[in-house]
Amino acid sequence: MSVVSIEREGEIAVVTVDNPPVNALGQALRQGLWDAVATLDADPDVRAVVLICAGRTFIAGADVREFGKPPVEPHLPDLVNRIEGAVKPWVAAIHGSALGGGFEVALGCRFRVVLDSASVGLPEVVLGIVPGASGTVRTPRVAGAAAAVDLVTTGKPVKAAKAQAMGLVDAVLSGDLREGAIAFARAALEAPLPLPASERPVTDPGAAFWAEQQAAVARRAKGEAAPLRALACVQKAVQAPFAEALAFERATFLDLRGSDQAAALRHVFFAERAAPRPAHLGEAKPLPLRNAGVIGGGTMGAGIAAALRDAGLPVVLIERDAEALARGLANLQTIFDGGVKRGKLTPEQAAARMAGVTGATDYAALADTDLVIEAVFEEIGVKRAVFADLARHCRSDAVLATNTSYLDPRAIAEGLANPGRFIGLHFFSPANVMKLLEIVPTPETAPETLATGFALARALGKIPVQAGICEGFIGNRILKRYRAAAEALVRQGVAIAEVDAAMRGFGFAMGPFEAQDLGGLDIAFLQREGARAAGQDVPETLGDLLVRAGRKGQKTGGGWYDYAPGDRKPQASARVAEVLAAAITAGPALDRAAIAERLVGEMAAEGEAILAEGIALSPSDIDLVEIHGYGFPRWRGGPMHYTARKG
Ligand code: 3HC
Ligand code: NAI
Repeated sequence: MSVVSIEREGEIAVVTVDNPPVNALGQALRQGLWDAVATLDADPDVRAVVLICAGRTFIAGADVREFGKPPVEPHLPDLVNRIEGAVKPWVAAIHGSALGGGFEVALGCRFRVVLDSASVGLPEVVLGIVPGASGTVRTPRVAGAAAAVDLVTTGKPVKAAKAQAMGLVDAVLSGDLREGAIAFARAALEAPLPLPASERPVTDPGAAFWAEQQAAVARRAKGEAAPLRALACVQKAVQAPFAEALAFERATFLDLRGSDQAAALRHVFFAERAAPRPAHLGEAKPLPLRNAGVIGGGTMGAGIAAALRDAGLPVVLIERDAEALARGLANLQTIFDGGVKRGKLTPEQAAARMAGVTGATDYAALADTDLVIEAVFEEIGVKRAVFADLARHCRSDAVLATNTSYLDPRAIAEGLANPGRFIGLHFFSPANVMKLLEIVPTPETAPETLATGFALARALGKIPVQAGICEGFIGNRILKRYRAAAEALVRQGVAIAEVDAAMRGFGFAMGPFEAQDLGGLDIAFLQREGARAAGQDVPETLGDLLVRAGRKGQKTGGGWYDYAPGDRKPQASARVAEVLAAAITAGPALDRAAIAERLVGEMAAEGEAILAEGIALSPSDIDLVEIHGYGFPRWRGGPMHYTARKG
């Protein structure tokens, strides 16, 4: 079947695009639309054209899979020009999202009408590129420079009502989009047509505006190239004639398309979309998830309960006694209050979130719970006792999950009557914010339990990555290697602040030592001490020396750095130099780029080991773990992609 079909409704032609899954603008679709313009221009009975899409969305953009290949005609900018130059006016009828090239096609249409649930946007910067088919040039001519800057530099789509307020679309419709768009087209024919977008005048907001935008975008983008290049395109668009600006945009687009950053961001785009439905799940069906229980209302338990409530699941929160339960519920309340403060929740929504939580100290409250997630102290005895209680009170088909960071899930599950329903679900702190969920099956976990873990991740809007059993699973195991490598640099004389600056320069929000000071050095210390107590040979780390000297991080006024009271700014510490002096020997000097290469190389090397052991199923899974759990810069693609591309 053709991806473009034409029907007639009297004098209105309806062009329907049907190119699943998201009507991306592959060659066949571009050609189909190209031909439709010719067909309809030649038809004397047609006075206007409605462009509408089948399936879940309007055209969602260029076909990203074509980006690695040489461009094939008709090129998208030419198609958009051709639609704009059609003798009959075209009306884009948008449902779902009109994104990137999809919105550019809509900008070529004389009118844009959107369903009230739809959104429009130019998300190209998210893929490391700029719009390549007049998005930066037509948008300011339709909606002004400020709206265009907002759209192209953030890449964030805007919802129908806002899009109309910004001038991006002409009408917001509800009900039957096809009917509404046809009626809109008929009415439009009764009035003089507006100018095509390319011919509309545009005002230059002036030098001060551009200087301000440049500073703001540079600050947000950190090392990312595309947002500033997109800003330059909009500036060109309001200061130069249409054709010249279009050529400038196209050159920028083609330049970025082949860049390392664009390749990295494309890699992440596809990895993220592949992650929620891995092929190895096969036919396994997830179990129903109508409600959930959480054991422990501390840092993680409260965050997990909040995430479950955000997804609409009723939650039973269990704590060990009334006092701890009150604290746990207060932790949850604080999370929702924070949502209200940041404008993410209305007070009513926050109240409804809280109303869906039942606190209890008696496991009987879990009698009809589909899924229980344990987040109690990281002690095997405590966890085992919890699961023994769960086995007594929960339905035998309930999924029982542990959020352990380091313990062996097999040891936690020992003795369970139905080990097929047991699984590790490792969330990251804050659990209602962080996108990563490591899913850790044991050898006995049933396929449908595993599938339920992935279904839960989808319901929570998280990126699931399956991990095998080893100390630290994927993420914390790589973190350990990364920290050890950072310490090794310090041991050979590299300044602590240089290591942190190098990793910030690479694109991390924080370096490894600053991050430890924020999170506290004592957690990893206690874990190492535990292993030592159990007879394992765990070498002394520099972090151990600091903790023994009373330096556990910001909460004790200092860790790797000193902190003035009430100030989070790290200051080099004479005391640290003293504590570590005996462990440090002068080695070769390293510049920041070399430091970053070394540390990322170590992460990738641990990733290779993890793959070889079957702990991770693919390199891109490791990249997702680092990006969504540990702040690895997305535009670098993750340690595995980065290292492979470097060769
Ligand atoms: N090209 C190729 N494939 C695409 C695609 C695209 N632009 N957008 C989505 N897909 C694929 C996905 O890989 C996935 O494939 P799979 O089923 O084989 O895994 C499938 O379509 C469905 O995608 P989602 O799971 O993301 O579907 P949702 O319904 O959750 O979301 C969407 C739909 C909001 C449209 C989302 O897919 C999306 O944001 N897509 C990207 C849009 C985009 O970035 N467009 C700009 C492209 S660049 C451009 O247009 C350049 C131009 O200026 C020249
Ligand atoms: P926490 O100390 O903040 O919270 C633990 C909670 O469990 C406390 O509120 C405590 O009262 C409760 N509790 C203890 N025994 C209980 C019992 N028998 N029944 C019911 N409640 C009980 O600890 P945190 O940080 O939330 O960690 C919990 C688990 O999550 C641990 O296994 C930890 O390794 C894991 N984890 C922690 C992360 C973090 O960043 N803090 C990240 C990912 C996992």
